[in-house]
Amino acid sequence: MMSRTGAEAINLYLIGFMGVGKSAVGRGVARVLKMQFIDSDRAIEETIGTSIREYFEKEGESAFRDREREFIESGHPSHGCVVACGGGLPIASGMIELLRARGVVVSLFAGPETILERTKHSDKRPLLNVPDPAGRVEELLREREAIYMQAGPGICTDNRALQEVILHLARIYHREAMRFSNSAAGSAER
Ligand code: S3P
Repeated sequence: MMSRTGAEAINLYLIGFMGVGKSAVGRGVARVLKMQFIDSDRAIEETIGTSIREYFEKEGESAFRDREREFIESGHPSHGCVVACGGGLPIASGMIELLRARGVVVSLFAGPETILERTKHSDKRPLLNVPDPAGRVEELLREREAIYMQAGPGICTDNRALQEVILHLARIYHREAMRFSNSAAGSAER
């Protein structure tokens, strides 16, 4: 039996470092799965009424992390959406568990060169707006990679066509959504 798609489907959370392709891949897979696409950064910007860059400047990173937690806890639909999560969203303690309780979690990966290339013109990434972005990327990857790797299945997006990554992800989603439903049914019976 195929897993459900559309508005009733189990949510899919895409996590991974800045620039690994969460938004592009997420938008594409949402189309394939007939689900709604949500970018956590965009949704939070709408709620706070300002840009992430300005919010970091005025309120600081930890206030932004609180907004991310609220978004996951109560700021998005419980079914039918593909969520591209900001790179730091799953890092704080308890966030991976929150995501895994709400749906399927898949990590995307890319090498530091790809990440730097894809992020160099962005101004929504204050953490990389420093004199040595390459050093910062390496440092943050060292801190975060184990968390991304342990969260669930992973896909590398380096040197792969977008469409190929999207179809690969859709297959993983179907498999993992079945597992998620079976384990939810199992825990309801216990
Ligand atoms: C961040 C990643 C960004 C954005 C913010 C902080 C991070 O999102 O949430 O600049 O800590 O890795 P993307 O991963 O979509 O670039």
